[in-house]
Amino acid sequence: MASSLRSWSLCFLMASILAISSKSTIANFQPSPWQLAHATFYGGACGYGNLFANGYGTDTAALSSTLFNNGYACGTCYQIKCFQSPWCYSGVTFTTVTATNLCPPNWSQDSNAGGWCNPPRVHFDMSKPAFMKIAQWQAGIVPVMYRRTDGLRFSFQGNGYWLLVYVMNVGGGGDIANMWVKGSQTGWISMTHNWGASYQAFATLGGQPLSFRITSYTTQETIIAWNVAPANWQVGLTYGTSLNFH
Ligand SMILES: *[C@@H]1O[C@H](CO)[C@@H](O)[C@H](O)[C@H]1NC(C)=O
Repeated sequence: MASSLRSWSLCFLMASILAISSKSTIANFQPSPWQLAHATFYGGACGYGNLFANGYGTDTAALSSTLFNNGYACGTCYQIKCFQSPWCYSGVTFTTVTATNLCPPNWSQDSNAGGWCNPPRVHFDMSKPAFMKIAQWQAGIVPVMYRRTDGLRFSFQGNGYWLLVYVMNVGGGGDIANMWVKGSQTGWISMTHNWGASYQAFATLGGQPLSFRITSYTTQETIIAWNVAPANWQVGLTYGTSLNFH
């Protein structure tokens, strides 16, 4: 089983924000194609991942750095199904997990024997309860198919003069080149990169519906999400959209 005892604190912070803010207005369901990976599980009292992920209940996973993408993947929801293993539970379609941790590489273990999270492996170190929904735990490791679901989500932090937006579930390459915010009474304001997929604007935007313009670094697509947040938007809440990069 891969070690996921070291969590990425900001990922935890952002994931907690998402967990606390349940208000979301996600519309359509736009799953990405299924892709192949592997999954192990972590468990037991020493799993910091479990502690850190309290807000999500137990259906969480730590991602290998290939998937984690420097934090851009924090808060992303994945559907995971067990794939072509005798340990798979038959009749189970998939389980849904939220990414709350980095599963760090351990180069003292071979990538094919314990070092499951070593790049370039695509790996989910799932919470034990989540793993046990798709496969028998005695398997230790199973091949899985995974896909990302739904659209971009915007989680708000900050204060009256500073808006910090954490963008979750970013499709395409999973990264963002540029981002702007627009209040109903302002023009487009360029946001600066904070960490991972968090962007900030030092502007007074309270009491206005907010729109975002985002450009994907990988796909070069631009998405304009009009009026994602209503005029009475609040820090601590997450606002959803059905839009995403491809
Ligand atoms: C890395 O693997 C070695 C060998 O199995 C193990 O002793 C060590 O505890 C691991 N390190 C971490 C951080 O898990």
